Amino acid sequence: MVKVRGFYKVEKNYNKNLISKNMPKENEYTGNINPLCQETELWTTRDEQSSEDETNEFLGALIRLIKPKFIVETGCYLGDGTLAMARALRVNGVGRILTCDIIQERVDEVNKRLQEEGLYPEIASAIKCEGEALIKQCGSVIDFAFIDSSPDGKVRGAEIKELLKYLRPLKMFALHDTAPQHKTINAVANMVGLPKVYFNTPRGMTLFMKS
Ligand SMILES: C[S@@+](CC[C@H](N)C(=O)[O-])C[C@H]1O[C@@H](n2cnc3c(N)ncnc32)[C@H](O)[C@@H]1O
Repeated sequence: MVKVRGFYKVEKNYNKNLISKNMPKENEYTGNINPLCQETELWTTRDEQSSEDETNEFLGALIRLIKPKFIVETGCYLGDGTLAMARALRVNGVGRILTCDIIQERVDEVNKRLQEEGLYPEIASAIKCEGEALIKQCGSVIDFAFIDSSPDGKVRGAEIKELLKYLRPLKMFALHDTAPQHKTINAVANMVGLPKVYFNTPRGMTLFMKS
């Protein structure tokens, strides 16, 4: 920190040792494509498809805070988001997460990772199906949802439409990839008529609450 005219200002030349050395920097994927978000090298991620580490950490903290009993995730990929939420549920001592993907190998990999951490199947499991079908199947038991499936806004819009039939007042869901470069998902986020907060990250995430 540098003191500038009585205010503390974060140095532009931030401490690079504090940033994960193992994970690629987010700017390898989103550098200069989001006009609202600069310094994308401050975020880290496994790859272009995986949720960013910071998003996963946030989801874990949110699960600790709001104590959902039943979480649904659409699109698990390799499970970084699923594991973060499942670990939080384990600390909570209550709750389950059911996630899905349309690619069987990804579902198998996520279940393997969950098993290795002793989270499968009591706390978390993944199944092969479409997100919309999973939401339909779980219906009114859903307490929190992480919508992170297809890059096509129509698909995610259909998932949200289905979710809103069941979600009870004060329950939340997070829609990932709502930054302006994800045009169709950004449009979906703008159409949902619920109280929301937009997190200005490289890929963007919007948290909605059923009023
Ligand atoms: C952005 S990745 C998900 C990242 C993941 N949530 C994480 O924490 O790393 C999107 C995943 O959704 C899957 N997918 C695409 N269309 C889908 C659909 N209609 N239903 C469920 N999953 C879908 C893809 O196969 C891909 O693995």
